[in-house]
Amino acid sequence: MSSALILGASGDIGHAVAEEMAQNGWSLYLHYHENADAANELADELSAKYPRQDFFTVAGDLRDVNSAQTIANQLFSLDAVIVAAGMTYYELFRDASVDHMTALMRVHLLTPMALLNLVQDKLAESGRGRIVFIGSVYGASGSAMEVTYSTVKGAQSAFAKAYAQEVASLGLTVNVVAPGAVATKMNKEFGKEALEEVKASIPAGRFATASDIAYFVESLVDARASYVTGQTLYVTGGWLR
Ligand SMILES: NC(=O)c1ccc[n+]([C@@H]2O[C@H](COP(=O)([O-])OP(=O)(O)OC[C@H]3O[C@@H](n4cnc5c(N)ncnc54)[C@H](OP(=O)(O)O)[C@@H]3O)[C@@H](O)[C@H]2O)c1
Repeated sequence: MSSALILGASGDIGHAVAEEMAQNGWSLYLHYHENADAANELADELSAKYPRQDFFTVAGDLRDVNSAQTIANQLFSLDAVIVAAGMTYYELFRDASVDHMTALMRVHLLTPMALLNLVQDKLAESGRGRIVFIGSVYGASGSAMEVTYSTVKGAQSAFAKAYAQEVASLGLTVNVVAPGAVATKMNKEFGKEALEEVKASIPAGRFATASDIAYFVESLVDARASYVTGQTLYVTGGWLR
């Protein structure tokens, strides 16, 4: 049975990815930071629905790079890692503190990289290891008011491109699914008017659902998807790309 770690399983996109992967037979390590209830409820829901699979919860604040080791210590066999944890600060770069920049770099990039460094051998043992980052179209287009966020999202794609080359011979693929605007709680601080304005600029005429994104994550972790690596797939409804 295949096992995957989903960083940010307590979030909306992570939750949808967990449902999609569980439906396809995966056992899951469901990571959370503050929202233990969301992770525990998801684990209970999936255990009831798929009693032959295992669902564990794993806590960790990715702003702390040491959490990579704490999380890695709790994993047994591992075939995939999905990096779906993240947050943003909506502010001019001129006003951004080094604390904010550090937090964004650690949560989206540095701690996941430290974790992958620790679990590479486990993923290689699988013979069909899969790594998928949830990136962002902003990593390609950039976005005012989210300069550091755009920077780390672009860096996720750069990391995938380079790391994919090192580990392809181990049967490991490394890819990024980069959404446009998704209707999740990450966007809850924006008012109705601002959200309507974004919606009007999306060619598809709507925000993505978390399940629109999860569909492509599941496709990339499928055993048959062994020949796509180092890529960033933009799932944007035609927005910005
Ligand atoms: N929503 C969008 O429009 C959009 C667009 C492009 C890309 N994305 C990317 O998609 C990913 C998931 O976002 P989402 O929309 O699903 O947001 P969400 O519902 O707010 O979920 C965010 C997830 O990240 C976790 N997290 C936040 N801070 C953390 C920290 N310090 N340490 C560890 N985990 C932390 C949260 O854990 P707890 O809740 O347990 O604290 C939660 O699981 C992010 O990387 C985001 O950048 C989102």
